[in-house]
Amino acid sequence: MQKALKKLQDLDLRGKRVFVRVDFNVPLKAEGKHWVVTDSKRIEGALETIRHIIANDGKCILASHLGRPKGKKDAKFSLEPVGAKLSELLGKDVILTDDCIGDGAKSLSLRMRSGDVLLLENLRFHEGEESNSADFVAKLLELTDVYVNDAFGTMHRAHASTVGLPKLVADRGAGFLVQKEVKYLTALKENPERPLALVMGGSKVSDKMGILEQFLPKVDKVFVGGAMAYAFLKAKGHEIGKSLCDDKQEQLAARIVKAAEARHIRLVLPVDHVVASSIQDVPGKKITAGVDIPKELLGVDIGPQTIELFQRELSGVKTIFWNGPMGVFEEPAFAGGTFALARAIAASSGLKLAGGGDSAAAISQSGTEAQFDFVSTGGGATLEFLEGHEFAGLKVLEFRKSGEA
Ligand code: 3PG
Repeated sequence: MQKALKKLQDLDLRGKRVFVRVDFNVPLKAEGKHWVVTDSKRIEGALETIRHIIANDGKCILASHLGRPKGKKDAKFSLEPVGAKLSELLGKDVILTDDCIGDGAKSLSLRMRSGDVLLLENLRFHEGEESNSADFVAKLLELTDVYVNDAFGTMHRAHASTVGLPKLVADRGAGFLVQKEVKYLTALKENPERPLALVMGGSKVSDKMGILEQFLPKVDKVFVGGAMAYAFLKAKGHEIGKSLCDDKQEQLAARIVKAAEARHIRLVLPVDHVVASSIQDVPGKKITAGVDIPKELLGVDIGPQTIELFQRELSGVKTIFWNGPMGVFEEPAFAGGTFALARAIAASSGLKLAGGGDSAAAISQSGTEAQFDFVSTGGGATLEFLEGHEFAGLKVLEFRKSGEA
């Protein structure tokens, strides 16, 4: 029997304490004595769900992790700056609890009025979150009448707030962000309109292997840029200079090259590069004449001929999925290729999807977000979903289509 997700819009929220697992694991930077959020995309992604709960007279209790504090309270992983950003985006007070469990949080939750928003302090300040301990789940249950998960980026983790808690709450469902992520990524995985192109970048071939292998039967073109490309070029016998690539990465790349050849999939690799003697050597930046990189230099971005090649090869493609930058794009001098790629994808007439924190940041910095059909908020979760892994956090929100729980 077919399964479907229970949805937030089907739940009765009036007067209830709605525990919402969100993924507010966002980048922060220090500004004087304070920390501030530098990219609020994940917070913005949860706003529709939060506003729906407020509009339907629910009491919204938000719970998230931030970083990996390993079960200990640590001020640098406090959700305080996230609460400030959320309050600004919502135009409403957001109360932050001192602790995500215990008498303080419980009594605040019981004093909430419909439409109030409470943000619990970092779930990972307690070891029981990641170990999914029964005691910790029982403490979270004290705050919960209805359970909603809108934390797609964390759904590949079987933790107390993603799996243990919802198992014990009859009224549970997926928030709007999770519904959107599942809809777009399932369509991409199961039924993409072809020709389909995957555009892969970033540093680790091993992180992207699963997805490349999973998509081999249905992909038409694979573009590889960024540090990953050096492994492919080395596997094809090119000189990559000082660019990092270990034997394992080269072997994995060689496996993909062979599999792509066997299936007649077009593998589009860089034909020139921006190079420097190190990633700090901005003044020494050069463009190679061809595909090989001189011995004393390393690749830091794709070159102008590669940008043109990628633009040409993207034309006529009906679905594009992009994950990973084309170079060291955090350094403005080496960001040209990544931003040009964002613009080339944005200009294509096909369905445009992207995933991963770096691609999402590059899309927003290049001002192309509005042209993308969907930019996933997940990092590892997006890749694992597309690789076909089952998420316990999603399974617990499913029901059989006959209506049977
Ligand atoms: C992420 O940023 O990918 C998610 O928030 C999950 O974080 P984690 O890898 O620390 O579990």
